[in-house]
Amino acid sequence: MSAIPDRPIALLSPMVEERDALFHRLTDAATHAIGTLQVVTGKLEGHSVVLAESGVGKVASAAITTLIATALDCRAIVVCGVAGGIDPELGIGDVVIADRLIQHDYGHLTNQGIRNFRPGIAPLGEARDRIAFDLHPELLMRIGAAVKDIQLLPLPSDLGVVTRRPPRIAFGPIVSGDQFINSEDVRERLHRDYAALAVEMEGAAVAQAAELIGIPCIVIRSLSDLAGAESHLDFPKFLRAVAPTAAEVVSRIVSVL
Ligand code: ADE
Repeated sequence: MSAIPDRPIALLSPMVEERDALFHRLTDAATHAIGTLQVVTGKLEGHSVVLAESGVGKVASAAITTLIATALDCRAIVVCGVAGGIDPELGIGDVVIADRLIQHDYGHLTNQGIRNFRPGIAPLGEARDRIAFDLHPELLMRIGAAVKDIQLLPLPSDLGVVTRRPPRIAFGPIVSGDQFINSEDVRERLHRDYAALAVEMEGAAVAQAAELIGIPCIVIRSLSDLAGAESHLDFPKFLRAVAPTAAEVVSRIVSVL
């Protein structure tokens, strides 16, 4: 078994299809065990990384973040995978890079709906703390510069996607919760309440763990569905086709982390 490199960047993908899109880009790949968890170390564009499948949802992904980042002394964590699109300007295949991450399901639930609190703070009384985990503005600028000139390839036409234009990269809020969103009403609410561009099930939980550890958390997602009435059909249809786009964007930003 080869040695684990010094201070790698952790790459986490919730599902195996998302993990494989990154695995194909690694050189010097070697498997290791951390307790019962299998991880792959290697190089991505010459940078030391450790890749793992985090599992779906906030608890699984935060637990694995803590395990890997502390066991291997990781210097940053990148979540790479797919998401449901929330902003009506975006389409399947587009990529969202989170400038802020919010746990949309953490808070105080009444007949009037949810009032969010910062995760970890008791959700009662007045919510005084910021609810979002923000990416450091300087790191955000470096990532913006690194992706500025990327030309992404359109999805294959036989998949029947509505837009044939090349995927676009957008920066904005991503919301996370332990729910697969398959509802126009919820999609509209997430856009209205958080100005969210996309929804997924891990990013803001990984950000909470990363904040505690003291390392940056970057979340990069390609859109597999639009979180509305068709999302349960679109997700399995587009998962494998769009996952490589997020992996490509990750490979372009590792040099600035
Ligand atoms: N990940 C991909 N699509 C999603 C959706 N519609 N809801 C939550 N997480 C997702």
